[in-house]
Amino acid sequence: MVEFDTVIAGGLVVTAGDQVRCDVGILGGRIAALGHGLSGKEILDASGKLVLPGGIDSHVHIAQPSGDGIVMADDFETGTRSAALGGTTTIMPFCLQERSVPMRETLRAYHAKAEGECYVDVSFHLIINEPTEQLLGQDLPALVEDGYTSFKVFMTYDDLKLNDRQILDVMSVARETGALVMVHAENYDAIRYMTEQLERAGHTAPRYHATSRPTVVEREATHRAISLAELVDVPVMIVHVSNREAMEQIRWAQQRGLRVLGETCTQYLVLTEDDLDGLGMEGAKYVCSPPPRDKASQEACWEGLRTGVFSVFSSDHCPYRYADEQGKLNPKARSSFRWVPNGIPGIGARLPILFSEGVAKGRMSLEQFVAVTAANPAKTYGLYPRKGTIAVGSDADIAIWDPERRLTLHHDMLQDGADYTPYEGLEIVGWPTTTLVRGQKVMEEGKLVGRKGFGTYLARDRSRFAASSKRSD
Ligand code: URP
Ligand code: ZN
Ligand code: ZN
Ligand code: ZN
Repeated sequence: MVEFDTVIAGGLVVTAGDQVRCDVGILGGRIAALGHGLSGKEILDASGKLVLPGGIDSHVHIAQPSGDGIVMADDFETGTRSAALGGTTTIMPFCLQERSVPMRETLRAYHAKAEGECYVDVSFHLIINEPTEQLLGQDLPALVEDGYTSFKVFMTYDDLKLNDRQILDVMSVARETGALVMVHAENYDAIRYMTEQLERAGHTAPRYHATSRPTVVEREATHRAISLAELVDVPVMIVHVSNREAMEQIRWAQQRGLRVLGETCTQYLVLTEDDLDGLGMEGAKYVCSPPPRDKASQEACWEGLRTGVFSVFSSDHCPYRYADEQGKLNPKARSSFRWVPNGIPGIGARLPILFSEGVAKGRMSLEQFVAVTAANPAKTYGLYPRKGTIAVGSDADIAIWDPERRLTLHHDMLQDGADYTPYEGLEIVGWPTTTLVRGQKVMEEGKLVGRKGFGTYLARDRSRFAASSKRSD
């Protein structure tokens, strides 16, 4: 009889398709058997627990430089540490193109930041902010071949936005190469117009960040992104969708047979724009784009997840520290919401919040939870079935969950590099008790037990939604 390195015994094993009570045998970092009475050098008793594929957070920002020199609160060590504590075993941050620097060079520097630092596995998307002929014609096709199979484009932000023509050019490369384009859909000019109006009226507090980018700004850009993708005939992923109108653009496109994918994030399920109205400047802790909306928008995002309009659920972890050396929001950000860096932390809290608010409250099934947090991100970004499922041959990336565990969320449980969590004080039901990356324990009972540097870089295949887009005529 085979003796496995590790056997996870007696838990309820859940995939995107099924749940079955069985043991999981792990050998050489991979899942080698599902069965009963398996024997192993180490037995992890999972009776009364759930055995889920480790989470894949396919939208995070780690050590990403910003135009105005503000430093992100997480590097690869702290970001992947928090991921492991929250049951996530693979993260996908963005390598931001630097103007006038070859993309390969920027990628090399980004790899160097991750090298030897990670507790969980990592793969990179590319952010395209300067689609030069060299990049489009030479560099991107070669990078796709090398496993960088997804690009993000922005329709807003001063230093990132592309115009429609540039987006068409990037989409066209995606069509030729089988890459997947992710779109940040908000109308830049409309936001600028709103921002200037608000500032002129003296409305500069953090709450006006939300006022400056209402749903219409997101809906219009979502529709435009879909239209551009239709024109080029490529699949597109609309990321961080916050509200019903944008969700309905995606549903409409899907019903017309277009390959339009959607993602929503933690903040759109549990925060509202009222959170930006916090005492003093504390609303800055909730400034992200698109902004959190209202209760009805939260319901729409749940509906989108439940019905499959959104196939991926991410954190959009983009951590900045709230307090400066004086213990306050920095003076520039206090002067106007325009200067508050956009983005909030959430890499560690993502899975527990979706489990608690989704599964424990009966809004989604366990299978749906696994689908949107692990299986679909893996399929969408070319990691399946190595990642995202519990099947013979897959990497033994597993989170063992106690579905009954009750606790109140506090920032110190998450151990990221930020100085707060926007989800402070949330009552949670269900928590991961053990996280395994390729068969190795990285978290046990809330403690980090993994080895820094064990996490490895993953080159990816093409997305299964994009691979067929290359023109055959
Ligand atoms: O506010 C956000 N979402 N910041 C992160 C960058 C992005 O747009 O995804
Ligand atoms: Zn974005
Ligand atoms: Zn983002
Ligand atoms: Zn607390």
